[in-house]
Amino acid sequence: MRLLVTGGAGFIGSEFVRGWLRSDPAAHVTVLDALTYSGVEENLASVAHHPGYRFVRGDVCDPDVVDQVMAGQDAVVHFAAESHVDRSIEGAGPFVRTNVVGTQVLLDAALRHRAGRFVQVSTDEVYGSISEGSWTEEWPLAPSSPYSATKSAADLLVLAYHRTHGLDVVVTRCTNNYGPHQFPEKVIPLFITRLIDGRTVPLYGDGRHIRDWLHVSDHCRGIELALHGGKPGEVYHIGGGTEVSNHELTGLLLDAVGADWDRVTRVADRKGHDLRYSLDDSKIREQLGYAPEVPFTEGLAATVDWYRGNRSWWEPLKAGSERA
Ligand SMILES: NC(=O)c1ccc[n+]([C@@H]2O[C@H](COP(=O)([O-])OP(=O)(O)OC[C@H]3O[C@@H](n4cnc5c(N)ncnc54)[C@H](O)[C@@H]3O)[C@@H](O)[C@H]2O)c1
Repeated sequence: MRLLVTGGAGFIGSEFVRGWLRSDPAAHVTVLDALTYSGVEENLASVAHHPGYRFVRGDVCDPDVVDQVMAGQDAVVHFAAESHVDRSIEGAGPFVRTNVVGTQVLLDAALRHRAGRFVQVSTDEVYGSISEGSWTEEWPLAPSSPYSATKSAADLLVLAYHRTHGLDVVVTRCTNNYGPHQFPEKVIPLFITRLIDGRTVPLYGDGRHIRDWLHVSDHCRGIELALHGGKPGEVYHIGGGTEVSNHELTGLLLDAVGADWDRVTRVADRKGHDLRYSLDDSKIREQLGYAPEVPFTEGLAATVDWYRGNRSWWEPLKAGSERA
């Protein structure tokens, strides 16, 4: 299978590409990535020697580049996105451009070139917030942030291209990911890197917000299952089953680095902050045999170790981001 992976230099996309190429010496993967602030080509260094690997630096909104890379592909896994909620609150423009227009440019090219399956990698945030119970795939979309609104718009476009044009699409929606190579603006790597540097960490509001955490390798396994076995035009939830409040998460990270609560600064809550996310992922479990494999405590400890051991990866990213 010849695979086009957009956003393959980012946190989740690079995990997916590394896993895909390592497991198959005959695989062909073209990564299309604009290398924005969160894209790091070095994330793919360990597979750059693979004979089937090709990296193209380019923008998913650029129809010419997209047309070139789409030719001859059997499938597309679309990760490329502006992905940080706080940045979308500061300014929604880049989110609308990349997440909505970029998806439309890719869909048009996929249609023109008769690329096979198109996997849209999406998020549980499209549903808004849920105080109890869990969302099923049929739940109405009610996004709270400009980020999740643009992901919702992209998901609807993808599903519309299936209904209108018969394009073979699958949408996956996942809970919060953690693991190595995550840009140190997201809560887990932000807290780890600040704590190991002896700094304080900012906890939003009262810390009661609940997220369902999933190791990035489990997310990628779910995407592969949907790519190979998902039904055209369907949505699949990929869940973690580990609901933790931000307060509990902060306690776990403090323990992991041997720090106390005096290192925590309470900051004003994020605007429109969703209280709780929770996915019902029984569909992918029952239909495609998905189950997360990495227990949260083990995955979190390994993630802390990874950031401890890879300062040269995150320090320049953090310095650049803090300067900006
Ligand atoms: N991180 C999570 O917890 C999570 C959970 C569920 C779904 N998702 C989705 O997974 C996908 C990947 O998320 P991530 O956390 O790896 O994000 P990330 O910010 O680490 O990576 C995004 C990648 O996309 C690239 N990119 C951005 N704009 C581009 C453009 N215009 N053209 C080409 N490339 C561009 C960046 O350079 C980067 O390599 C996103 O679609 C996100 O919505 C993320």
